[in-house]
Amino acid sequence: MSEKIVLLTGATSGIGKATALGLARKGFTLILPVRNFEKGEKTKQEILAQYPQTKVHLFECDLASLSSVKRFAEAVKSQFPYLHILINNAGVWKNKLTFTQDGLEQTFAVNHLAHFYLTLLLVDLLQKSAPARIINVASDLHQGDIHFADVEFRKHYNGLNAYKQSKLANILFTRILAEKLKNSQISVNALMPGFIATDIFEDLPFFLRWLIPFVAKSPEKGAETTLYLATEPHLRVTGEYFKNKQRASSSHQSKNMQTAQKLWDLSVQMLQQKGFQVPNL
Ligand SMILES: NC(=O)c1ccc[n+]([C@@H]2O[C@H](COP(=O)([O-])OP(=O)(O)OC[C@H]3O[C@@H](n4cnc5c(N)ncnc54)[C@H](OP(=O)(O)O)[C@@H]3O)[C@@H](O)[C@H]2O)c1
Repeated sequence: MSEKIVLLTGATSGIGKATALGLARKGFTLILPVRNFEKGEKTKQEILAQYPQTKVHLFECDLASLSSVKRFAEAVKSQFPYLHILINNAGVWKNKLTFTQDGLEQTFAVNHLAHFYLTLLLVDLLQKSAPARIINVASDLHQGDIHFADVEFRKHYNGLNAYKQSKLANILFTRILAEKLKNSQISVNALMPGFIATDIFEDLPFFLRWLIPFVAKSPEKGAETTLYLATEPHLRVTGEYFKNKQRASSSHQSKNMQTAQKLWDLSVQMLQQKGFQVPNL
Protein backbone atom coordinates (compact mmCIF):
# COMPACT_ATOMS: atom_id res chain seq x y z
CA MET A 1 0.00 0.00 0.00
CA SER A 2 1.13 3.59 -0.48
CA GLU A 3 2.21 5.09 2.83
CA LYS A 4 -0.73 5.56 5.21
CA ILE A 5 -0.05 7.67 8.28
CA VAL A 6 -1.90 7.23 11.58
CA LEU A 7 -1.67 9.36 14.68
CA LEU A 8 -2.66 7.44 17.81
CA THR A 9 -2.81 8.86 21.35
CA GLY A 10 -2.26 6.62 24.37
CA ALA A 11 -0.15 3.96 22.61
CA THR A 12 2.07 3.21 25.62
CA SER A 13 -0.40 0.95 27.36
CA GLY A 14 -3.58 -1.15 27.19
CA ILE A 15 -5.89 -0.79 24.21
CA GLY A 16 -3.68 1.84 22.57
CA LYS A 17 -0.61 -0.40 22.56
CA ALA A 18 -2.61 -3.29 21.09
CA THR A 19 -3.98 -0.88 18.48
CA ALA A 20 -0.47 0.33 17.59
CA LEU A 21 0.69 -3.27 17.13
CA GLY A 22 -2.36 -4.05 14.99
CA LEU A 23 -1.71 -1.01 12.80
CA ALA A 24 1.98 -1.88 12.49
CA ARG A 25 1.02 -5.39 11.37
CA LYS A 26 -1.03 -3.80 8.58
CA GLY A 27 1.87 -1.61 7.45
CA PHE A 28 0.78 1.82 8.71
CA THR A 29 3.28 4.55 9.58
CA LEU A 30 2.74 5.54 13.20
CA ILE A 31 2.89 8.94 14.88
CA LEU A 32 2.76 8.34 18.62
CA PRO A 33 2.49 11.23 21.10
CA VAL A 34 3.61 10.04 24.54
CA ARG A 35 3.89 11.82 27.87
CA ASN A 36 6.66 9.54 29.12
CA PHE A 37 9.35 9.30 26.45
CA GLU A 38 11.11 6.32 28.04
CA LYS A 39 7.86 4.37 28.09
CA GLY A 40 7.27 5.52 24.51
CA GLU A 41 10.71 4.25 23.46
CA LYS A 42 9.92 0.88 25.06
CA THR A 43 6.64 0.70 23.16
CA LYS A 44 8.44 1.60 19.93
CA GLN A 45 10.97 -1.21 20.50
CA GLU A 46 8.13 -3.68 21.17
CA ILE A 47 6.52 -2.68 17.87
CA LEU A 48 9.82 -2.92 15.95
CA ALA A 49 10.64 -6.30 17.50
CA GLN A 50 7.47 -7.72 15.95
CA TYR A 51 7.23 -5.56 12.81
CA PRO A 52 10.74 -4.29 12.00
CA GLN A 53 9.70 -2.43 8.84
CA THR A 54 7.33 -0.09 10.71
CA LYS A 55 8.05 3.63 10.68
CA VAL A 56 7.38 4.78 14.24
CA HIS A 57 7.65 8.49 15.03
CA LEU A 58 7.62 9.26 18.76
CA PHE A 59 6.80 12.73 20.06
CA GLU A 60 6.69 14.01 23.58
CA CYS A 61 3.19 15.27 24.26
CA ASP A 62 1.40 15.57 27.58
CA LEU A 63 -2.33 15.79 26.99
CA ALA A 64 -2.60 17.38 30.43
CA SER A 65 -0.90 20.46 29.00
CA LEU A 66 -2.55 22.48 26.24
CA SER A 67 0.72 24.11 25.22
CA SER A 68 2.24 20.63 24.84
CA VAL A 69 -0.70 19.64 22.60
CA LYS A 70 -0.21 22.79 20.52
CA ARG A 71 3.55 22.21 20.16
CA PHE A 72 2.95 18.62 19.14
CA ALA A 73 0.30 19.50 16.53
CA GLU A 74 2.62 22.14 15.05
CA ALA A 75 5.48 19.61 14.86
CA VAL A 76 3.24 17.10 13.08
CA LYS A 77 2.07 19.71 10.59
CA SER A 78 5.60 20.81 9.82
CA GLN A 79 7.06 17.30 9.49
CA PHE A 80 4.33 15.29 7.77
CA PRO A 81 2.70 16.12 4.43
CA TYR A 82 -0.25 13.83 5.19
CA LEU A 83 -2.29 12.40 8.02
CA HIS A 84 -4.84 9.80 7.04
CA ILE A 85 -6.17 8.62 10.40
CA LEU A 86 -6.39 10.27 13.80
CA ILE A 87 -7.22 7.97 16.71
CA ASN A 88 -8.10 9.74 19.95
CA ASN A 89 -7.56 6.88 22.36
CA ALA A 90 -5.73 8.13 25.47
CA GLY A 91 -7.79 8.38 28.61
CA VAL A 92 -7.72 8.59 32.39
CA TRP A 93 -10.03 7.73 35.27
CA LYS A 94 -9.23 9.74 38.38
CA ASN A 95 -10.85 8.81 41.65
CA LYS A 96 -9.91 12.11 43.29
CA LEU A 97 -10.20 15.64 41.94
CA THR A 98 -6.87 16.37 40.23
CA PHE A 99 -5.79 19.23 38.00
CA THR A 100 -3.70 19.55 34.86
CA GLN A 101 -0.83 21.98 34.32
CA ASP A 102 -3.47 24.39 32.97
CA GLY A 103 -5.48 24.14 36.19
CA LEU A 104 -8.29 22.13 34.59
CA GLU A 105 -9.93 19.03 36.04
CA GLN A 106 -7.89 16.16 34.65
CA THR A 107 -10.59 13.77 33.36
CA PHE A 108 -12.42 16.42 31.35
CA ALA A 109 -9.14 18.01 30.23
CA VAL A 110 -7.39 14.85 29.02
CA ASN A 111 -10.30 12.70 27.85
CA HIS A 112 -12.18 15.50 26.09
CA LEU A 113 -10.59 18.95 25.86
CA ALA A 114 -7.04 17.96 24.81
CA HIS A 115 -8.40 15.66 22.10
CA PHE A 116 -10.93 18.29 21.00
CA TYR A 117 -8.07 20.79 20.62
CA LEU A 118 -5.67 18.33 18.95
CA THR A 119 -8.33 17.27 16.45
CA LEU A 120 -9.24 20.83 15.46
CA LEU A 121 -5.56 21.71 15.03
CA LEU A 122 -5.13 18.74 12.69
CA VAL A 123 -8.33 18.99 10.64
CA ASP A 124 -6.66 20.89 7.79
CA LEU A 125 -3.93 18.24 7.48
CA LEU A 126 -6.58 15.48 7.48
CA GLN A 127 -8.53 17.45 4.89
CA LYS A 128 -5.44 17.59 2.68
CA SER A 129 -5.02 13.83 3.05
CA ALA A 130 -8.66 12.90 2.42
CA PRO A 131 -10.24 10.42 2.43
CA ALA A 132 -9.36 10.54 6.11
CA ARG A 133 -10.81 9.18 9.35
CA ILE A 134 -11.14 10.40 12.91
CA ILE A 135 -11.80 7.72 15.52
CA ASN A 136 -12.75 8.56 19.10
CA VAL A 137 -12.47 5.87 21.76
CA ALA A 138 -15.52 6.39 23.99
CA SER A 139 -17.36 3.94 26.26
CA ASP A 140 -20.75 2.47 27.07
CA LEU A 141 -20.32 4.27 30.40
CA HIS A 142 -21.31 7.49 28.61
CA GLN A 143 -24.71 7.45 30.35
CA GLY A 144 -25.89 10.67 32.04
CA ASP A 145 -25.58 14.24 30.89
CA ILE A 146 -23.07 17.08 30.57
CA HIS A 147 -23.00 19.02 33.87
CA PHE A 148 -22.78 22.46 32.33
CA ALA A 149 -23.23 24.16 35.72
CA ASP A 150 -19.97 22.60 36.94
CA VAL A 151 -18.42 20.65 34.09
CA GLU A 152 -15.28 19.94 36.12
CA PHE A 153 -17.22 18.68 39.18
CA ARG A 154 -15.27 21.10 41.34
CA LYS A 155 -18.07 21.23 43.93
CA HIS A 156 -18.86 17.52 44.25
CA TYR A 157 -16.22 15.46 42.50
CA ASN A 158 -16.99 11.84 41.77
CA GLY A 159 -14.53 9.84 39.64
CA LEU A 160 -17.17 7.67 37.99
CA ASN A 161 -19.37 10.65 37.09
CA ALA A 162 -16.40 12.62 35.73
CA TYR A 163 -15.35 9.65 33.60
CA LYS A 164 -18.91 9.00 32.34
CA GLN A 165 -19.30 12.64 31.38
CA SER A 166 -15.96 12.67 29.52
CA LYS A 167 -16.99 9.63 27.49
CA LEU A 168 -20.35 11.26 26.69
CA ALA A 169 -18.35 14.29 25.56
CA ASN A 170 -16.37 12.00 23.19
CA ILE A 171 -19.59 10.88 21.49
CA LEU A 172 -21.17 14.36 21.35
CA PHE A 173 -17.93 15.66 19.83
CA THR A 174 -18.00 12.81 17.31
CA ARG A 175 -21.54 13.61 16.22
CA ILE A 176 -21.15 17.36 15.89
CA LEU A 177 -17.75 17.17 14.22
CA ALA A 178 -19.17 14.67 11.71
CA GLU A 179 -22.00 17.15 11.03
CA LYS A 180 -19.57 20.06 10.58
CA LEU A 181 -17.40 17.94 8.25
CA LYS A 182 -20.26 16.39 6.31
CA ASN A 183 -19.18 18.01 3.03
CA SER A 184 -15.61 16.84 3.43
CA GLN A 185 -14.13 13.41 2.94
CA ILE A 186 -13.32 13.00 6.61
CA SER A 187 -15.41 10.52 8.58
CA VAL A 188 -15.73 10.76 12.35
CA ASN A 189 -16.85 7.81 14.45
CA ALA A 190 -16.78 6.74 18.09
CA LEU A 191 -16.58 3.34 19.68
CA MET A 192 -16.83 1.21 22.77
CA PRO A 193 -13.77 -1.09 23.02
CA GLY A 194 -15.41 -3.44 25.55
CA PHE A 195 -14.60 -4.01 29.20
CA ILE A 196 -10.84 -4.47 28.96
CA ALA A 197 -8.19 -5.27 31.60
CA THR A 198 -5.87 -2.25 31.47
CA ASP A 199 -4.10 0.27 33.70
CA ILE A 200 -7.03 2.69 33.45
CA PHE A 201 -8.52 1.08 36.55
CA GLU A 202 -5.38 1.54 38.67
CA ASP A 203 -6.96 4.41 40.63
CA LEU A 204 -9.95 2.30 41.70
CA PRO A 205 -10.09 0.86 45.23
CA PHE A 206 -8.34 -2.51 45.55
CA PHE A 207 -11.56 -4.44 46.27
CA LEU A 208 -12.82 -3.48 42.77
CA ARG A 209 -9.47 -3.65 40.98
CA TRP A 210 -8.60 -7.24 41.87
CA LEU A 211 -11.78 -8.47 40.13
CA ILE A 212 -10.94 -6.95 36.77
CA PRO A 213 -8.54 -9.60 35.36
CA PHE A 214 -11.22 -12.23 36.01
CA VAL A 215 -14.05 -10.48 34.17
CA ALA A 216 -12.46 -8.15 31.60
CA LYS A 217 -11.17 -9.00 28.12
CA SER A 218 -7.67 -8.59 26.70
CA PRO A 219 -6.28 -5.35 25.20
CA GLU A 220 -6.05 -7.17 21.83
CA LYS A 221 -9.79 -7.77 21.96
CA GLY A 222 -10.23 -4.12 23.03
CA ALA A 223 -8.36 -2.91 19.95
CA GLU A 224 -10.54 -4.80 17.46
CA THR A 225 -13.22 -2.17 16.86
CA THR A 226 -10.69 0.66 16.59
CA LEU A 227 -8.73 -1.39 14.06
CA TYR A 228 -11.93 -2.16 12.19
CA LEU A 229 -12.81 1.56 11.97
CA ALA A 230 -9.26 2.41 10.89
CA THR A 231 -8.82 -0.26 8.26
CA GLU A 232 -12.20 -1.42 6.90
CA PRO A 233 -11.96 -0.31 3.26
CA HIS A 234 -15.67 0.04 2.59
CA LEU A 235 -16.62 2.04 5.65
CA ARG A 236 -18.72 5.00 4.54
CA VAL A 237 -20.53 6.02 7.73
CA THR A 238 -19.84 9.07 9.84
CA GLY A 239 -21.12 10.38 13.18
CA GLU A 240 -21.85 6.88 14.46
CA TYR A 241 -21.08 4.77 17.52
CA PHE A 242 -19.59 1.28 17.16
CA LYS A 243 -19.17 -1.77 19.35
CA ASN A 244 -17.97 -5.26 18.41
CA LYS A 245 -17.11 -3.94 14.93
CA GLN A 246 -20.75 -3.00 14.29
CA ARG A 247 -22.89 0.07 14.59
CA ALA A 248 -24.42 0.23 18.06
CA SER A 249 -26.94 2.41 19.82
CA SER A 250 -25.77 5.09 22.21
CA SER A 251 -27.71 7.04 24.82
CA HIS A 252 -30.47 9.52 24.06
CA GLN A 253 -28.32 12.35 25.48
CA SER A 254 -25.43 11.46 23.19
CA LYS A 255 -27.63 12.26 20.18
CA ASN A 256 -28.74 15.70 21.37
CA MET A 257 -27.19 18.11 18.87
CA GLN A 258 -28.04 21.15 20.99
CA THR A 259 -26.05 19.67 23.85
CA ALA A 260 -23.27 18.84 21.39
CA GLN A 261 -23.12 22.46 20.16
CA LYS A 262 -23.23 23.77 23.74
CA LEU A 263 -20.32 21.50 24.66
CA TRP A 264 -18.46 22.66 21.55
CA ASP A 265 -18.95 26.31 22.52
CA LEU A 266 -17.91 25.65 26.11
CA SER A 267 -14.78 23.80 24.93
CA VAL A 268 -13.79 26.70 22.64
CA GLN A 269 -14.40 29.14 25.49
CA MET A 270 -12.32 27.11 27.97
CA LEU A 271 -9.45 26.96 25.48
CA GLN A 272 -9.69 30.69 24.81
CA GLN A 273 -9.68 31.43 28.54
CA LYS A 274 -6.36 29.60 28.72
CA GLY A 275 -5.02 31.60 25.76
CA PHE A 276 -5.49 29.00 22.99
CA GLN A 277 -7.29 29.79 19.74
CA VAL A 278 -9.28 27.15 17.91
CA PRO A 279 -9.56 27.11 14.11
CA ASN A 280 -13.09 27.95 12.94
CA LEU A 281 -15.12 25.08 11.54
N1 LIG B 1 -10.34 -0.45 29.66
C1 LIG B 1 -11.64 -0.41 29.47
O1 LIG B 1 -12.41 -1.27 29.93
C2 LIG B 1 -12.24 0.70 28.64
C3 LIG B 1 -13.63 0.66 28.41
C4 LIG B 1 -14.19 1.67 27.65
C5 LIG B 1 -13.39 2.68 27.13
N2 LIG B 1 -12.05 2.69 27.38
C6 LIG B 1 -11.25 3.77 26.80
O2 LIG B 1 -10.14 3.22 26.12
C7 LIG B 1 -9.11 4.20 26.03
C8 LIG B 1 -7.76 3.57 26.35
O3 LIG B 1 -7.77 3.23 27.73
P1 LIG B 1 -7.07 1.93 28.33
O4 LIG B 1 -8.14 1.15 29.00
O5 LIG B 1 -6.21 1.29 27.32
O6 LIG B 1 -6.20 2.61 29.48
P2 LIG B 1 -4.64 2.63 29.83
O7 LIG B 1 -4.05 1.27 29.69
O8 LIG B 1 -4.54 3.30 31.15
O9 LIG B 1 -4.03 3.55 28.69
C9 LIG B 1 -4.24 4.94 28.70
C10 LIG B 1 -3.24 5.59 27.76
O10 LIG B 1 -3.48 7.01 27.80
C11 LIG B 1 -2.23 7.65 28.05
N3 LIG B 1 -2.40 8.92 28.77
C12 LIG B 1 -3.07 9.16 29.91
N4 LIG B 1 -2.92 10.45 30.30
C13 LIG B 1 -2.13 11.03 29.36
C14 LIG B 1 -1.60 12.32 29.21
N5 LIG B 1 -1.81 13.29 30.09
N6 LIG B 1 -0.83 12.58 28.13
C15 LIG B 1 -0.56 11.61 27.21
N7 LIG B 1 -1.02 10.35 27.31
C16 LIG B 1 -1.80 10.07 28.38
C17 LIG B 1 -1.46 6.66 28.92
O11 LIG B 1 -0.09 7.00 28.95
P3 LIG B 1 0.91 6.40 30.09
O12 LIG B 1 1.31 5.05 29.58
O13 LIG B 1 2.01 7.38 30.14
O14 LIG B 1 0.11 6.30 31.36
C18 LIG B 1 -1.78 5.37 28.20
O15 LIG B 1 -0.98 5.22 27.04
C19 LIG B 1 -9.52 5.34 26.97
O16 LIG B 1 -10.06 6.41 26.21
C20 LIG B 1 -10.62 4.71 27.81
O17 LIG B 1 -11.55 5.68 28.28
C21 LIG B 1 -11.45 1.72 28.13
